[in-house]
Amino acid sequence: MFEEGEERKIRFGAENVFDFSLGNPNLEPPPRFKQVLGELINDPAEGRHAYMPNAGFPETRQTVADYLTRFNQPTFTPEEIVMTVGAGGGLNVVLKTLLDPGDEVIIPKPYFVEYNFYLENHQGIPKVVPTKQDFSLDIDAIERAVTKKTKAILINSPNNPTGRIYRVGELEQLADLLSRYSRKHKKPIYLISDEPYRKIVYDNIIVPSVFDVYSESFVVTSFSKDLSLPGERIGYVAVHPDMSDKKMVIAGMVFSNRILGYVNAPAFMQRAISRLLEESIEISVYQNKRNMLCSALASFGYDFVKPEGAFYLFPRTPDKDDVAFVTTLQEENILTVPGSGFGGPGHFRIAYCVSDAVIQGALPGFKKVIENYRK
Ligand SMILES: Cc1ncc(COP(=O)(O)O)c(C=O)c1O
Repeated sequence: MFEEGEERKIRFGAENVFDFSLGNPNLEPPPRFKQVLGELINDPAEGRHAYMPNAGFPETRQTVADYLTRFNQPTFTPEEIVMTVGAGGGLNVVLKTLLDPGDEVIIPKPYFVEYNFYLENHQGIPKVVPTKQDFSLDIDAIERAVTKKTKAILINSPNNPTGRIYRVGELEQLADLLSRYSRKHKKPIYLISDEPYRKIVYDNIIVPSVFDVYSESFVVTSFSKDLSLPGERIGYVAVHPDMSDKKMVIAGMVFSNRILGYVNAPAFMQRAISRLLEESIEISVYQNKRNMLCSALASFGYDFVKPEGAFYLFPRTPDKDDVAFVTTLQEENILTVPGSGFGGPGHFRIAYCVSDAVIQGALPGFKKVIENYRK
């Protein structure tokens, strides 16, 4: 898709190609980010660029722990925080720690494409389960997927690609199910919550915390999306303070961070984000983009669940064949991704973390394509 886009940009001019294919935020980091970098560069202390504990700087982990304590029922200490190379690095650290070859991980679909590859890295087996029509969790489907080999369930809210936020009731039901089967199988089934979009939510919807409902849980997150820093590769994993086998799990994570070759999360960014935990890009900018896109596409006749967070829209394709539909959009120089790649055939994903001009420029093409399908 990327190469197709580049080729089209050369042929038609960059301003005539409307690229919605990547979740690469178009907003610059908040102004405070540059101020903080300036302050850090002028810090005269020595050893700031040296190796450190593999879990990260104790001061950074303390600030993250304090921050989480404010927003969750449990009280966190630095011990429960491991700084990681983005959420992607964090997920690999957790999976490397938990999985034995052949262990199963339940993944509600549609899901972030990389999950399959991450599981493959650690010889885990994905057990993909459907969600409901509105992309909320289907607890019965999850229950049907549980076996003695189930090691974890991996959820993502706000969701890429659907923009769905799981409600507290869903999480409570999930926690209840996982507790029952953990008891039955006499070993914990872990809940891994991938949350890089936690701050990117609209209409004052609350993203409930898995930490408030289930003690065998991890939160994996990053600053890639809410501070627009995906290239800086900084994130963290937090472990529930009451997790059973907590000490062993954390030791495994610290070791995994090391032997996966990350060693530790980037030092400079660890120091930066500890001063930026309260910051985020202007969420209303993405909300306006969502509104602009949703009202136009709805008026053209596209069918979709309105996203509640993140910056993706996942409409149904008017054609069953989502790959064919995405190819038709490409002919209008509109680049999107077929839903089948996310385990959501019959849909396509629009990443609307792009300029308003790209959205506006693409609207006539979106309209023409659906009208042609209707003929
Ligand atoms: C759901 C989800 N998880 C994880 C990631 C990886 O994020 P990071 O850049 O922090 O590794 C992404 C990136 O798009 C994502 O959408």
